[in-house]
Amino acid sequence: MSGSFRRVPLLLTALVLSSGLALAQPAAPEAAKPESAKPAQAAPAAKKPAEFEPEVGQPGKDVIWVPTPQDLVDKMLDIAGLRPGDYLIDLGSGDGRTVITAAKRGVRALGIEYNPNMVALSQRNAEKEGVSKLATFVRGDIFRSDFSKATVVTMYLLPQINVKLRPTILRLRPGTRVVSHSFHMDEWEPDGTIGGNGNDCERFCSAYFWVVPARVNGTWRIRQGTLSVKQEFQTFTGTLRTRDGTHKVENGRLRGEAISFTAGGTKYSGTVKGRRMSVTVDPAAKAETAPAERAAQVPAKNQAR
Ligand SMILES: C[S@@+](CC[C@H](N)C(=O)[O-])C[C@H]1O[C@@H](n2cnc3c(N)ncnc32)[C@H](O)[C@@H]1O
Repeated sequence: MSGSFRRVPLLLTALVLSSGLALAQPAAPEAAKPESAKPAQAAPAAKKPAEFEPEVGQPGKDVIWVPTPQDLVDKMLDIAGLRPGDYLIDLGSGDGRTVITAAKRGVRALGIEYNPNMVALSQRNAEKEGVSKLATFVRGDIFRSDFSKATVVTMYLLPQINVKLRPTILRLRPGTRVVSHSFHMDEWEPDGTIGGNGNDCERFCSAYFWVVPARVNGTWRIRQGTLSVKQEFQTFTGTLRTRDGTHKVENGRLRGEAISFTAGGTKYSGTVKGRRMSVTVDPAAKAETAPAERAAQVPAKNQAR
């Protein structure tokens, strides 16, 4: 695909040169020839319309087109943990490279792109790569498109566009993975980052990764007591009221439907599925505290003998 961008300056030079030559040519000689001297004209061959060639920096509806370098596309799909069964949607899919790369990994993927020429180009690219069954493209505006079925969302837009999309992204199914080339989501801290240490890459070689957190703001009755939660994206604070008293919630974290927190010195972890939350004492924390519990019990048992 990148070959086509490299050809753009050449093509432009050729276009400029050819149009210049055409302007410099005198128009008269051909017209001055007598009718009989003109060679018999064959029916003009139907001209194939020139294929659309994208230009880096060409305007887009909300964002210009600049392609993500292929090695970063690969890393973005790696950090997303792309796997068979996923459904990837690229918001503003440009020449289709992210969608096509996902399809080459055996994953169904859709590109939403405003520019119809880019949509057609992506479809041609997918055909050339033999993945047009898995890689599909639609012409659409990302702000008017439904991408709620995605399990992975990718994008290379702009910070303010990301922030504008953020409420929609936060309403996606918990666990949906989101990767953004270069741009963040303001106060929504990423769950992972791809650094920009590529060999031939000085700018625009980083990406951010998030997992849409379950929505837990509010009060929950759980087996252990009453959990009051104040959620900030994938983190939360609050209190856990148990029979022992009210404990401050610390290190509250969500990764999709997985929840963990500490309260009253005990670590809890579990899942949130819609309106159901179930947490248990973290098995790792149990392992940590088990020797201490046993040590405390031994003297008591011994005394009882
Ligand atoms: C920076 S390019 C990224 C292309 C591709 N995702 C990639 O990473 O190589 C942004 C793309 O978004 C498209 N775009 C801009 N505004 C859009 C909108 N509102 N809806 C859909 N596509 C849009 C542009 O035409 C352009 O192709």
